[in-house]
Amino acid sequence: MQVHIPLKKVIDNSYSITIDTIPTTHFDTKVAIVTNPKVAGLHLGYLLSKITAKELYIITVPDGEEYKNQVSIDLILESLFNHRFNRKSMLIAFGGGVIGDMVGYASSIYQREIDFIQIPTTLLSQVDASVGGKTGMNNSYGKNLVGAFHQPKAVYIDPSFLRTLASREFGAGIAEIVKMAVTFNKDFFAFLETADLKNPEILQDAIKKAVQTKADVVAQDEKEHGIRAALNYGHTFGHVIENETKYKRYLHGEAVSIGMVMANNTSVKMGLMSQDEAHRVKNLLEKYELPTSYNISNTSDFYETFYLDKKSSDTSITFILPVGIGDVKITDECEESLIIEVLKEFGSN
Ligand SMILES: NC(=O)c1ccc[n+]([C@@H]2O[C@H](COP(=O)([O-])OP(=O)(O)OC[C@H]3O[C@@H](n4cnc5c(N)ncnc54)[C@H](O)[C@@H]3O)[C@@H](O)[C@H]2O)c1
Repeated sequence: MQVHIPLKKVIDNSYSITIDTIPTTHFDTKVAIVTNPKVAGLHLGYLLSKITAKELYIITVPDGEEYKNQVSIDLILESLFNHRFNRKSMLIAFGGGVIGDMVGYASSIYQREIDFIQIPTTLLSQVDASVGGKTGMNNSYGKNLVGAFHQPKAVYIDPSFLRTLASREFGAGIAEIVKMAVTFNKDFFAFLETADLKNPEILQDAIKKAVQTKADVVAQDEKEHGIRAALNYGHTFGHVIENETKYKRYLHGEAVSIGMVMANNTSVKMGLMSQDEAHRVKNLLEKYELPTSYNISNTSDFYETFYLDKKSSDTSITFILPVGIGDVKITDECEESLIIEVLKEFGSN
């Protein structure tokens, strides 16, 4: 005997991303703003001048990638239980990608799902992490290995928060912008080559273009069954660099910057990209003082570490390779010998 449960339904998860000063908003429900002490110290006063709610709480978790873990998630959940949040209540993620990913995840599991809003405050989170509904946390096995797809109800990107951002954090965000342009949008890349992103108005335009590019990709492939994986360009190599340097030497975006150069060199060797195009990408990264070189001490160890990548299987490694500028190929058919040749150009053996 079989019991059939018909669950085919169309779910509309659409939402808007506002790139402007935060609109004055009142929420007729319980709301918790989740942030960290650094962001709270710099910008919470401003946020509280814009946002009111029937009941408004502030939850603070420690700052840093090392706190993107179950302990912080529990801290958020316990606070919600203590304040008797219900399924109509809402969370606001106020911070960089660490806060955004954790608040999204906490809201996806609290009473099986409540709404949340993203108010990203780093460049990386404004152009990338806050858009697309990937949420999660790290554990002892690796980064972002536990999580859920849970789309925010809205995203408010206010570029004025970026005035207080450290310059390396700014550069790390630029790397993700370059990633978006190289993989999907050659006009955007040409714009970036001449633009001065230190100019706030031009930066706002670049944020808009990056967000639009990511939104178009997410709209086609929300749960990364295909084309969305291309946004991991530079990450296959970058994750190994982060792993080798114990997540201490480089910010994520900086490791991705080197990773993009490695991916480009692979594309050049495979005839997918011209040397000139690879140079243009490298020049753009260097314009924002992003690292583009790295000394690989052992190419075989480096290669083996690819297998830890979420996109890899036990027997194959998936590479995201640019095809010229503005197009991309996802492939698990790269010859090991070719990749080793690329790695040798970065290393001593
Ligand atoms: N969900 C996704 O699609 C996605 C995409 C990319 C990255 N991520 C995740 O995002 C995280 C990285 O995000 P991040 O680069 O924003 O790092 P982060 O959240 O750690 O922020 C970097 C630092 O900047 C501080 N900060 C935040 N806003 C500031 C401001 N306005 N002024 C001064 N300092 C400020 C933070 O407190 C922190 O110390 C990683 O955990 C990564 O896995 C997620």
